[in-house]
Amino acid sequence: MSTRTVLITGAAGGIGGAAARRLHDLGWEVYAGVRRASDTSALPAGVHPLVIDLIDEETLDAAAKEIAARTGGRLDALVNNAGVIVEGPVETVPLEEWRRQFDVNVIGQVAMTQAVLPMLRTTGGRVVNIGAVSSRMCAPTFGPIAASKAALASVTEALRMEMRPLGVRVSLVEPGAVQTEIFAKAGAAARIAGWRGDPETQRLYRGVAEKMGEFVDNGSRAPVDGIVKTIVKALTARRPAAVYLSGRDARIMAALAKVPGRTRDRLVLRTAGVGAETYGP
Ligand SMILES: NC(=O)c1ccc[n+]([C@@H]2O[C@H](COP(=O)([O-])OP(=O)(O)OC[C@H]3O[C@@H](n4cnc5c(N)ncnc54)[C@H](OP(=O)(O)O)[C@@H]3O)[C@@H](O)[C@H]2O)c1
Repeated sequence: MSTRTVLITGAAGGIGGAAARRLHDLGWEVYAGVRRASDTSALPAGVHPLVIDLIDEETLDAAAKEIAARTGGRLDALVNNAGVIVEGPVETVPLEEWRRQFDVNVIGQVAMTQAVLPMLRTTGGRVVNIGAVSSRMCAPTFGPIAASKAALASVTEALRMEMRPLGVRVSLVEPGAVQTEIFAKAGAAARIAGWRGDPETQRLYRGVAEKMGEFVDNGSRAPVDGIVKTIVKALTARRPAAVYLSGRDARIMAALAKVPGRTRDRLVLRTAGVGAETYGP
């Protein structure tokens, strides 16, 4: 069998970097999207780094052209992995931050997919989108990230059906919490962006944000190996599943998502320790 080719976005580190290394070890020809040309230290020799910034369409087109030139217009798989977390209460997250969340996690994935789909159709290839189980079950201050992953889940579903008659398989991988730098980056970005609203409004939510921050920090995070295994499965299974849940917490949250809304709200708020007393001056 000829060497299979894959493009993975956001591959400078975290899940994308680990998936790039694993697929390289398995003999795939790996194209690794990195935001800066210097972000290649985690990639083994033999992996082809490509500068891809999902909010800069020119970089997507240039990357697609380079892959086409190297492979003769054939690509076996795209892993839409790059993503960011925007966190905070619905009322106080600046609108530019809401837009950044959707520009990267939704529009960026669509743009990347559009840029390489013709090559994937040539091979009868695969698309694997990295979502999150928060698409099914949200919590206070998770609005932006969860909404973006819910939107990505719908995009994935539409694409999966559109591509079915054309021979391209499309899967969504929904992990729970994984040990990567994404949470630290989200915290740093939130501190820089700040909150909108007058001081009184900001004070109202401070306790909630602190409680949810503690909740996230105290939660366990799985090593990247589990989700990398799931990505490889989605890329290689003879009949890939429409959706893969990755991690024990993801399976628990997916089950909890089926609990009726008001009961689920009470459960989530109680578990996180958020109540009326958490709000206030
Ligand atoms: N870690 C978790 O608990 C978890 C849970 C559920 C889902 N996920 C999803 O898994 C995926 C990978 O996340 P991760 O945990 O591995 O985090 P990560 O280590 O921060 O990796 C995310 C990657 O995306 C890149 N990226 C960010 N904005 C980009 C843009 N505009 N254009 C291109 N690349 C961009 C980042 O580059 P920079 O380093 O330059 O920012 C980074 O390489 C994300 O889609 C995330 O939502 C993660």
